[in-house]
Amino acid sequence: MELTNDPKKADVVIINTCAIREKADQKAFSSLGRLKHLKFRKPKMILGVGGCVAQLYGERLIENFPHLDLVFGTRTITLLPELISQVEREKRRMVETSFDIEEVFEFEPYHEEGKVTAFVSVQQGCNKMCSYCIVPLVKGKETNRSVEDILAETQKLVQKGVREITLIGQTVNSWKMAGYKFGDLLKIMAEIEGLFRIRFTTSYPRDVTKKLIDAIRDVPKVCHHIHLPVQSGSNRILTEMGRTYTREWYMDILKRIRDAIPEMAITTDIIVGFPGETEDDFNDTMSLLKQAEFDGTFSFKFSPRPGTPASEFSDMVSDQVSSRRLMELQAFQSEITVKKNQSIVGHIEEVLIEGESKNDPSWVTGRTSQNRVVNFPGTTDLRGKLERVIITEGFQNSLRGRLLENEMEVSHVS
Ligand code: 5AD
Repeated sequence: MELTNDPKKADVVIINTCAIREKADQKAFSSLGRLKHLKFRKPKMILGVGGCVAQLYGERLIENFPHLDLVFGTRTITLLPELISQVEREKRRMVETSFDIEEVFEFEPYHEEGKVTAFVSVQQGCNKMCSYCIVPLVKGKETNRSVEDILAETQKLVQKGVREITLIGQTVNSWKMAGYKFGDLLKIMAEIEGLFRIRFTTSYPRDVTKKLIDAIRDVPKVCHHIHLPVQSGSNRILTEMGRTYTREWYMDILKRIRDAIPEMAITTDIIVGFPGETEDDFNDTMSLLKQAEFDGTFSFKFSPRPGTPASEFSDMVSDQVSSRRLMELQAFQSEITVKKNQSIVGHIEEVLIEGESKNDPSWVTGRTSQNRVVNFPGTTDLRGKLERVIITEGFQNSLRGRLLENEMEVSHVS
């Protein structure tokens, strides 16, 4: 098979889906609806849906969408080629969402030619029990990938020109395998020649260990950014969420990270309007944002997910109240983010160049170690290179800069 960007030309169309919030699964349903006409005109086209929404609803999708041919789940993605040919051969509609698949990592992810960055999955599923979260239900128990497999996939990517790898897992820092902990994995990864940078996401606060902090500090290839969802600043809500830490404990971890690595960028996730969240609880979250000074936050209104404990909690917060809290929080965080981005003006940052800028082909774009996007005038032969850039402007979502041409200039600037 070959990829096409045009569904009209495709013999197989697969919709990949997310179930984390209600909006996400509605998106899956509307994509399915939109493809009805295409399937009507091209009855031989195979239409499939995979991912978390497929895992969640399974059989019901086939019943509700008569034009759908195939439903596969989060673990049966490894069977996809086989499933497609089975649908074709046997001319029947199929649902395969079983969970007891051992080899969950045995498929080769697609990698776009020429791309400098790539993701490598090191963990599937999740063993935490956050009361709001659907992930354990649709992705199953935490399954960790072997060091050998992780290295082999990374090496292949590096041979294709990838220079930066982001290790991904639901609680990536909980990864452990054959006596190795996540900090060890970072060190082992750093040995790979031709790989410039290592990132990882998402981290679970309780599993940030001294060993991990030391590895981030001591291994030069490991980037200085951690995404560390706090979810709320209210201890009462944190307990209701099942997050297993207090606000004070979380703030202490931030301090340990920043004491070890002062330039570390820290981003977080926040849920507002969790069942029972009072104005006081919300103010606790706002005061935590003020105290923590995150480099960025992703914030969401609580969304009740089927099968999760929190979807049955009483004291649901109205959409109106949640929306207002979300807006307030985002406005407040924006100010902090802009201030932080502006404070970098004048600094020299190492940037891995990813390619042409979105808005101007005579500019290039890349990221700093702290994961800040930097745009600056340059040509695409810089792609895949680590260069020093002086930051000249800071905005909400990006920085602007200028390439440092020589050492003379460096000494002049500093
Ligand atoms: N409602 C709202 N936000 C949620 N998240 C996870 N589950 C829910 C939910 N039911 C958010 C959390 C998590 C991020 C990926 O999505 O903040 O960290």
